[in-house]
Amino acid sequence: MINPPRIVGHRGAKANAPENTLVAIRRAHEEGATWIEFDAKLTKDNAVVLMHDETLDRTSNGKGPVAEATLAEIKKLDAGAWFGPAFKGETIPTLEEAMALMASLGMGFNIEIKPCPGREAETAERACASVLANWRGPTPIVSSFKRQSLAAAQATAPSLPRGYLAEELGRSWRADAEALGCVAIHPGWKHLTRQLVRDIKEAGMKALVWTVNEPARARELVAWGVDSIITDRPADIAKALAG
Ligand code: G3P
Ligand code: MG
Repeated sequence: MINPPRIVGHRGAKANAPENTLVAIRRAHEEGATWIEFDAKLTKDNAVVLMHDETLDRTSNGKGPVAEATLAEIKKLDAGAWFGPAFKGETIPTLEEAMALMASLGMGFNIEIKPCPGREAETAERACASVLANWRGPTPIVSSFKRQSLAAAQATAPSLPRGYLAEELGRSWRADAEALGCVAIHPGWKHLTRQLVRDIKEAGMKALVWTVNEPARARELVAWGVDSIITDRPADIAKALAG
């Protein structure tokens, strides 16, 4: 049903391009990644945009909460210069713009629903509706740390596969993920064990682990049976896994 590749670029290719932008998607593609992970949020006027933080401050020349800015206001911002002068002029992309680029590059994706507080359900609903309306590429994965977002995705877009995100898997991860109809588990690498990877596979789910930038760690995780490594450095990790 889902077939995520061994390497998934994190926020595009976060180490080498401004995260969650079109140039970061292109960079991931240049580094050989066939899928990327990115974060999705709603603007004040309900557009779905690629953005990690609740505020605009760190990754653009804007200020204040994303949830209080309209798409027109957000589109005037520079989302590249903070990363390096070569990226000046890059803008915050909409989900539709990102999907159009990924389609043209033949890529696939994991969309992480990263709602602003109080917008858990509507962020998932609007993002999933846009994916269903616009995406014709490889089956994506919709993931979130927010159970309410996964439940909204399950209720309104059940055909889109869901991924259960957690920094650390608690005791009830399997029951919780199954209740939400998840087909993948996305744990952070720090608390992951070989046994937990066995348990995920035994549950019949994919394991996509983040954010892995150390070659030795990536090799170990793959040896444990992890399906996908979500990394800021797709080319380096691909090289490590090949060698
Ligand atoms: O989806 C994996 C990873 O991106 C989750 O953490 O904070 O980088 O969105 P974060
Ligand atoms: Mg993310």
